[in-house]
Amino acid sequence: MAEYAILLLPSLNRVYSGTAVTLTRRELAVLDATVLGGKLTDVAETEIAGVPYVTFGAAELTDTDLAYLANLSSRYAMFERVGDLLRPVTTAPLDLFPSDLLTILKYPGKTNEQFTKLLLNVTALSTDRPGDLLARKLRVLDPMCGRGTTLNQALMYGLPVAGVDIDGKDIDQYAAFLKTWLRGNRIKHLARSAPIRRNRAVLGRRFDVELAPTKEAYKAGELITLTAIAGDTVHIGQFFRHRTFDVLVADAPYGVAHGSHGRTVSRSPVELIAAAAPSWADLLRPGGALGLSFNTHVARRSDLAEILTGAGLTVLDGPAYQGFEHRVDQAIVRDLLVARRD
Ligand SMILES: C[S@@+](CC[C@H](N)C(=O)[O-])C[C@H]1O[C@@H](n2cnc3c(N)ncnc32)[C@H](O)[C@@H]1O
Repeated sequence: MAEYAILLLPSLNRVYSGTAVTLTRRELAVLDATVLGGKLTDVAETEIAGVPYVTFGAAELTDTDLAYLANLSSRYAMFERVGDLLRPVTTAPLDLFPSDLLTILKYPGKTNEQFTKLLLNVTALSTDRPGDLLARKLRVLDPMCGRGTTLNQALMYGLPVAGVDIDGKDIDQYAAFLKTWLRGNRIKHLARSAPIRRNRAVLGRRFDVELAPTKEAYKAGELITLTAIAGDTVHIGQFFRHRTFDVLVADAPYGVAHGSHGRTVSRSPVELIAAAAPSWADLLRPGGALGLSFNTHVARRSDLAEILTGAGLTVLDGPAYQGFEHRVDQAIVRDLLVARRD
């Protein structure tokens, strides 16, 4: 039995108001239940020389196990405990691009990039083919993508991705950011924008990019595709063919307004989710998974679970999927739900 210690990203305590360890333990529980075969024992918070770590035991971690652990959303470094020493464990995360792809954009209402990664990880591991994450085979959709944190995380992993947001300014700002970032990093790409028309009516606008992490990959046609659409998620079925995606992830509107006097509760996103859920379910391939995070002040877990069930999805409610609730600020306590299309 070997013992391991994970050092968490130093920025996490600010982002999660002190619940970073709990969220890391929850993410590890999903990893353990889905791909590690229940190998992890004694997962705990342990202080080593005054620094907090998440520690666990495991009989034998294979290279594949380590590859999964390398992508843990909160991981800064990983060590094997040998006596009272820490031996660095070399890990190979999927990351293809510099990390500022995720950190440069800052705006009110942004879903923090670590939580976005956690939600994508937990959902990707919950499809009927969790290995597709490491094989970079997942097609990802964020049906309420804002200014694209999920889109950037999917790109980082090298996954084809699409997003929709009703706020056209968000999509424009995301497109402007991404084009500037790609040019600045000399990443070969082709970007286009066009209106989406049906029967002469304009339904929305789309921004499409094809890119590759290296010039060689670009020449070889090994392209990552990204689409961001300004449109209503309730009409999302008009933008994509059914069963197109393996994974849908979204951070639902928090129901709080970002005004000059701080935040006030405006309205609940439950009706919106109820109206959109059948279309979201239809866009998932059978065996695909949906991960939805929400503000528990404006949406009850049980109500959302009922909506997702009504849309033909199976909510994953085993022990590994409990306990993700965490405080974001005084107006937001966030939780998540994962459901699979059978
Ligand atoms: C919590 S934010 C998501 C933020 C995003 N993850 C990010 O990091 O930028 C919720 C988003 O839902 C979008 N939204 C609200 N109603 C919508 C609708 N009917 N169709 C599509 N998007 C909608 C809002 O514009 C907002 O960007």
